[in-house]
Amino acid sequence: MKDFVLAIDQGTTGSTVALMDGRGRICASVNYEFPQHFPQPGWVEHRPADIWHSVEKGIRAVLRKRVCTPAQIAAIGITNQRETTVLWDRDTGEALNNAIVWQCRRTSDFTESLKSAGHEKMVRRKAGLVLDPYFSASKFRWLLQNTRGIGRKLRAGKVAGGTIDSYLIWQLSAGDAHVTDVSNASRTSLMDLKRCDWDSELLDLFEVPGSILPRVVPSSAVLAHTKGVKGLPDGIPIAGVAGDQQAALFGQACFTPGDVKCTYGTGSFIVMNTGDKVLQSRSRLLSTLAWQLGEGGKPVYALEGGAFICGAAVQWLRDELQIIKSAPEIEALARQVEDHAGVEFVPALTGLGAPHWAPEARGSLTGLTRGTGRAHIARATLDAMALQNADILLAMERDLGKRMKPLRVDGGAAANNLLMQIQADILGRKLIRPKVIETTVAGACYLAGLGVGMWSGVGEIRKIWEAEQEFRVQIKPARRRERLASWQKALERTLL
Ligand code: G3P
Repeated sequence: MKDFVLAIDQGTTGSTVALMDGRGRICASVNYEFPQHFPQPGWVEHRPADIWHSVEKGIRAVLRKRVCTPAQIAAIGITNQRETTVLWDRDTGEALNNAIVWQCRRTSDFTESLKSAGHEKMVRRKAGLVLDPYFSASKFRWLLQNTRGIGRKLRAGKVAGGTIDSYLIWQLSAGDAHVTDVSNASRTSLMDLKRCDWDSELLDLFEVPGSILPRVVPSSAVLAHTKGVKGLPDGIPIAGVAGDQQAALFGQACFTPGDVKCTYGTGSFIVMNTGDKVLQSRSRLLSTLAWQLGEGGKPVYALEGGAFICGAAVQWLRDELQIIKSAPEIEALARQVEDHAGVEFVPALTGLGAPHWAPEARGSLTGLTRGTGRAHIARATLDAMALQNADILLAMERDLGKRMKPLRVDGGAAANNLLMQIQADILGRKLIRPKVIETTVAGACYLAGLGVGMWSGVGEIRKIWEAEQEFRVQIKPARRRERLASWQKALERTLL
């Protein structure tokens, strides 16, 4: 019987491949990291071949765990780091340049010039996004202008482009399918949110020829089939695709308007389901597409705010400052002190995202004294992760004009109980952590399983989702206000 779903979660620092059974249990999972490239300050690149090899290796490794045979895989789901942009050759499938990663700031001058020329209003109205180097459109333009031999290949119609989902589907289907799902397309700044298709005015503004782009398809439906992938039979349907934050929203069973989640990954991303409405933020948050289930399905929209550096700050403490040996150590270290003792870490290591949108801001560590130790820096880092989210959530509440529902938390760092308590305290709101915190992977599995009819609808998935722990507020409002004010001051110095 075909009753397993294989999910590929292609993230910023690594690729996870997992298997889920028909009861929604993740039965096996492997993760492979791949190298990051920082060719200049503020620039971030990946080698697309490294990404693909980490996925291929993951597929083989997860199958070696023998929880099912390849023939039992009913469908494949893909979820991915969003906005990261790749161009490849239509004949060979080989990338024409390194991928420009979502965190890369190299196109900030261009997006700034568009802003000064007054284009942001139109971009926000159509794409739901602000003008910032974060999104794919300016990255496509850069690649089209700076890749060796590109003109000739373009004229010959040999250039294909897309975000990581498209690139992976192309590789998995031996070039048979060049598609992207609506949620990923909504992060390019080239798609009209309402029509769910590329928009000629946006394509012209960013100087991207529509001919290189993939076809926009739903997030859950049979979109392609495997062909020539080592270890997998040909013909397995690829039936679910979504950007990682949208997949996490789905995996958290946030199916009702107002349901909201926060994923603590490389960055942290708060996304709220807004149903069939495109909610235009007054606080510089993003309107985006959550998912579309099936051909002709009604698009579901979301409001989103993301901080670019979350788990990446912990990695930085590990790899650059070397004050911890492994990421989970941060919790025990931060527990050694009562509080941050005036130390503020603003982790603007790749600029600041929502709601500030300051690509040129850089990180700062302030309030140091002779008594400052590693533990204070660790505590200030956890505080910063929570404080950035508070800025976003409070902006969301301003947009909504009311308090939000309890926040559902997930992602690797959601396992850190101290961070979760700090988050509840700083927000002054209850958090709910589900049993499965790999909700991104779960979301991709559900979308793919729904796409091939393994589950009948979201009602069945709602029954699979289970809460594990709640975190309630433990501090007084006055202390929260003080903490927020200290952070605000540090933030203002960074934004100067
Ligand atoms: O928008 C960027 C986001 O999709 C990256 O996610 O999980 O790699 O932090 P992650």
